Amino acid sequence: MKFDFTDEQLMIQQTAQEFAEAEIEPTSIERDKNSKFPTEIVSKMAELGFMGMMVDPKYDGAGMDTVSYALALMEISKVDASVGVIMSVNNSLVCAGLEKHGSDHIKEKYLKPLASGEKLGAFALSEPEAGSDATQQKTEAVKDGDHWVINGIKNWITNGVSADYHLVIAQTDREKRHKGITAFVVEKGMEGFETGVKEDKLGIRSSDTCSLTFTNVRVPEENIIWEIGKGFNFAMDTLNGGRYGIASQACGIAQASVDVALKYSMERKAFNTEIFNHQAIQFKLAEMATKAEAAKLLTLQACAMRDAGKSYIKEASMAKLYASKVSVENALEAIQILGGYGYVREYKVERFLRDAKITEIYEGTSEIQKIVIARELLKEYGLK
Ligand code: CAA
Repeated sequence: MKFDFTDEQLMIQQTAQEFAEAEIEPTSIERDKNSKFPTEIVSKMAELGFMGMMVDPKYDGAGMDTVSYALALMEISKVDASVGVIMSVNNSLVCAGLEKHGSDHIKEKYLKPLASGEKLGAFALSEPEAGSDATQQKTEAVKDGDHWVINGIKNWITNGVSADYHLVIAQTDREKRHKGITAFVVEKGMEGFETGVKEDKLGIRSSDTCSLTFTNVRVPEENIIWEIGKGFNFAMDTLNGGRYGIASQACGIAQASVDVALKYSMERKAFNTEIFNHQAIQFKLAEMATKAEAAKLLTLQACAMRDAGKSYIKEASMAKLYASKVSVENALEAIQILGGYGYVREYKVERFLRDAKITEIYEGTSEIQKIVIARELLKEYGLK
């Protein structure tokens, strides 16, 4: 295993870091407070190639590797995890899924503008009664001539309000369980398609999350992703990629907690010395930094395996499981180190905690990641 980054990877990381500090940081507290979507920031990220980072340039992507993507996403999320999730969903769940499984028509019509960042995408799998048990889709698509008519409701859709294109998973043959599920591209503005009210969330408040309602939405046959009956496999395969994306987001939050707490510990004095000089604080910082580093290594391992063309299902789930846990733990410790200051908005660490919590829930809860890991272990040991 190599521990050196290439010059290109380091350059991308630095670009993301500088961009995040100059363009994202100044408005992060205000956007969090007012739940304001970072429209201008997303446009600037598109100019940098950050919205379709891993997509082949022939589809207007930036053609970078997965490690570069993770490094950039970590830097963006270090400053603002809301911007991080917008980037992660567009790259990992939307562009990567369409590039791997979309038809030429879909790539030409939808992937290109999504990868260039001209358009924004969302991934609509979850429903009011289908979260972890994703096979229980109630949204239904029925064939009518050369169209499919979609009816149903989707819940908790990241980018739901702002997205132009939605990848919608629906039941097409209830008898066949997961083999009767199909994925479609649905455009904002198609008749009968409505986005719900933006959710008032605990964290990642600058990103938008909403429900989607489909009432007799007519979608052309050519908008089917992969093929009829492959929608569940599409969702699962795509979510593996989403998971190293969310792991990267969580790594960013975990590292930000270390950065803020370390700096504060050298500024704040108690008992006639900087609080860093108290072992109680040093031990916390050492543990936080070690865990942030371990989470980063797990995440980069999953990304490097994808770049090497290897299976990364177990590694992506391990990365998400661990990085999300560490992001919550580190944010809590950072608040403890900052004391009263940690409890107010201005010092940011309270937002890190609010933002971190969702990484243990979306794109597969921690409990789901453990199921995925355990199942992969059985395969690895030749026991299944
Ligand atoms: N990668 C690839 N394929 C997979 C897979 C994976 N990780 N997990 C399952 N599959 C495939 C299986 O191989 C099988 O395919 P075949 O029949 O062709 O062989 C098929 O999927 C069904 O597998 P199972 O019978 O094992 O499926 P299951 O019903 O037992 O569910 C599960 C498995 C892992 C629990 C799955 O339901 C799951 O991951 N649930 C969580 C869903 C989730 O992550 N939701 C997040 C919502 S999206 C979101 O949050 C986006 C956002 O806006 C931020």
